[in-house]
Amino acid sequence: DNVYTISVIPGDGIGNEVVPQGLRVLDAVSALYGFKLNYRHYDWSCERYKATGKMMPDDGISQLRDSDAVFLGAVGFPGVPDHISLWNLLIPIRREFDQYVNLRPVRLLPGVPSPLANKQAHEIDFWIVRENTEGEYSQVGGRMFAGTEHEFVTQEAIFTRRGTDRILRYAFDLAVRLERNHVTSATKSNGIFHSMPFWDERYAVVAADYPQVRADQYHIDILAARFVMSPERFDVVVGSNLFGDILSDLGPGITGTIAVAPSANINPERKHPSMFEPVHGSAPDIAGQGIANPIGQIWSAAMMLDHLGQADAAACVMRAIEQTLAAPDRRVTKDLGGSASTAELGDDILSRIGKS
Ligand code: NAD
Ligand code: IPM
Ligand code: MN
Repeated sequence: DNVYTISVIPGDGIGNEVVPQGLRVLDAVSALYGFKLNYRHYDWSCERYKATGKMMPDDGISQLRDSDAVFLGAVGFPGVPDHISLWNLLIPIRREFDQYVNLRPVRLLPGVPSPLANKQAHEIDFWIVRENTEGEYSQVGGRMFAGTEHEFVTQEAIFTRRGTDRILRYAFDLAVRLERNHVTSATKSNGIFHSMPFWDERYAVVAADYPQVRADQYHIDILAARFVMSPERFDVVVGSNLFGDILSDLGPGITGTIAVAPSANINPERKHPSMFEPVHGSAPDIAGQGIANPIGQIWSAAMMLDHLGQADAAACVMRAIEQTLAAPDRRVTKDLGGSASTAELGDDILSRIGKS
């Protein structure tokens, strides 16, 4: 029972640099806490696409199906159009495994200065719950009159009642579980379209089942401003696929660097594996230099351990990250103002993995 199968997909760019640091930390912490992680390594990536014409094999999804979790770096790199790389690897995993929750913590860590004035560690501390399988991310639509002056594209957003209700319910359950009892919905029901009035309607229905939880909502435009002006007011923020995507870069932006932000793509029913990956992408501008910050990947590993039921090991990883960032003699990467390499920051975190 203490043995887990982890499918590892470093993917593209800095994914190949930060995933190994995540694995080193996982190895150390699993030895310390007495469980075993068996890795299955997959080279699915843009490189593979260029060599074989496929991001992953035709039976790729079924190869992952019996693993306990997927640990992913990043997907997408110049040379292969994003609509090919993402829609043939990352997005199918999220959908086929019904990972309808994308959980993304936003937390100001000690030793990471916020670009917002006078914000201390932990003053920014909330959770983004992003819908992860439908909404604006739909392949329904298309291009007409291509190449002519009448050319146009249409793009349908799909909001099912089931899909909407279950993400909203997850957000309320999370707020209760965390004893924060406050949910904020990202909406845009003053826009002249159908999806958001529906979202609001379902939000009201679901909220009624949680009388102990304060349920508020903001239009996405002012919500973006509030993230910057008063981030301390948020506890759990729930949004559609696209709104959640944007907010989950804005959130880490106000906590100093997007490079530390983790995410969990969760199938809450546990019928399928969940996937853990940083919020950031393959960072083509710094790929291959060995200077990427591995913390987003390592924090994602901690979220994976939590999901696997190894909460103590997860807490140990978080402690090591926080101690490293707070240490006066810390060695951090360029995005945090230092000059350490990916591996040196990994070493520093690794050296602090120990039982408290
Ligand atoms: P990005 O997150 O890759 O990079 C944005 C900026 O942040 C860059 O300046 C980059 O150097 C910096 N950055 C990101 N991660 C960092 C790290 N760990 N350490 C230090 N700096 C870091 O976003 P992008 O440039 O918009 O996207 C690049 C590619 O990645 C695209 O193909 C995109 O589609 C893909 N992408 C994939 C994922 C994913 O796999 N989940 C997420 C976002 C973007
Ligand atoms: C993310 C990424 C992906 C998304 C892209 C690369 C498809 O930005 O995980 O946040 O939009 O979901
Ligand atoms: Mn994103």
